[in-house]
Amino acid sequence: MIQLIRGFKDILPAETALWQHIERTAASLLGDFGYGEIRVPIMEKTELFARSIGEDTDIVEKEMYTFVDRGGDTLTLRPEATASIVRAYIQHKMYADDPVRKFYTIGPMFRRERPQKGRYRQFYQIDAEAFGIESPLVDAQMIYMLHTLFERLGVQDTQVLINSLGCPDCRPRFRQALLDLLDGVEEQLCSDCRRRKANNPLRVLDCKVPGCREAVAGAPAIIDYLCDACRAHFDTVTGALTAHGIPFVLDKRLVRGLDYYTRTTFEIQTTALGAQSAVAGGGRYDGLVQALGGPATPAIGFAIGFDRLVEILGQQTQITAAGPALFIAAIGDAARAAAFDWSLRLGGAGLYVEMEHGDKSLKAQMKRANRLDAGHVLIVGENELAAGKAVLRDMATKEQTELPIDGIVDALRQRLAP
Ligand code: HAM
Repeated sequence: MIQLIRGFKDILPAETALWQHIERTAASLLGDFGYGEIRVPIMEKTELFARSIGEDTDIVEKEMYTFVDRGGDTLTLRPEATASIVRAYIQHKMYADDPVRKFYTIGPMFRRERPQKGRYRQFYQIDAEAFGIESPLVDAQMIYMLHTLFERLGVQDTQVLINSLGCPDCRPRFRQALLDLLDGVEEQLCSDCRRRKANNPLRVLDCKVPGCREAVAGAPAIIDYLCDACRAHFDTVTGALTAHGIPFVLDKRLVRGLDYYTRTTFEIQTTALGAQSAVAGGGRYDGLVQALGGPATPAIGFAIGFDRLVEILGQQTQITAAGPALFIAAIGDAARAAAFDWSLRLGGAGLYVEMEHGDKSLKAQMKRANRLDAGHVLIVGENELAAGKAVLRDMATKEQTELPIDGIVDALRQRLAP
């Protein structure tokens, strides 16, 4: 039998109720903050990701699903959504009337990481991006939205980590301090990090190899090198979080795995998922729109790991799909034909109805109705048809009522309409 690809998974109907609940809750909250849905392709030219996420990142170096298509183009399954949304913002000149635009998207991303609990090769993100707002208050608003969403969903035991990665003005001084340290520990670094040290030393701070982690344990933190403007920006963000009751922890080591970040970066971490502790991450990327060919536009966004959120909530809450409002237990050909007609009309009128299409005993049909968690069962056999009455059983109270078959569809609609 052909099995699915390692690191990919099926999301079965028993699980999708929770996925839909999260999706609806997120879409409604983001809508209330003015985020409109955007849908971008799951594949882009490789160059888009290489240039925005950065050549020296783990994602671009090791994790992208990249291939040459039959026309000779080098394409990549998106490892994240930000780059595509920035491309769309520029390509459709969405800045033309008003540079302030806010988008969200929900969909699959692809990274060829080593699969484990909470880490997949196809995973889903709930992603939000805001363009054209320089104010640090929007940074606080983004974190507020995440906090509120998690609270609304009932997610427990999370923590907001926050840091600032500065801007091109503060980076050179920090870079030099970091290089001074890295020069002294070069032999301890992995081969990737030795190359990164020359090209992009900040990336060494994000290396997962234990030897490299140890080597940079005493590294300087960029937040101690911020220019006045970045410092003031960061202080306003943390001040607003405090003023609005959002607890956070300053994490000077939070550098994020993508190159495009500037200034505020953040992650939401949880203790519920073992090693995969980040359930959401994001930050500012004030230089990216311009770097990809658009006008200079500040921007900020986040992405929630949808699979991880489902796993946390699955441990904490129980959400299952509702059973049918009505199960029609029909006995005999004539009753089944009548039941089929009613089920079509009731289904068409917005009521979830199931029936038994096979020739099964009443006992077997009641058992199935129970298993499906039907709210009511309508029992109809030859005798009921002859008498012009069917029996409606409330499965919760066990109460039974007789309904005239004449006009039964309207009667059922009135009684059972949600
Ligand atoms: P990221 O930190 O790479 O950021 O991913 C965001 C979240 O996606 C992570 O916190 C995690 O929950 C989830 N995630 C990442 N990789 C996997 C995986 N292999 N399996 C399951 N879940 C995973 C970004 O992607 C940025 N685009 C976020 C952003 C938006 N920054 C600005 N705007």
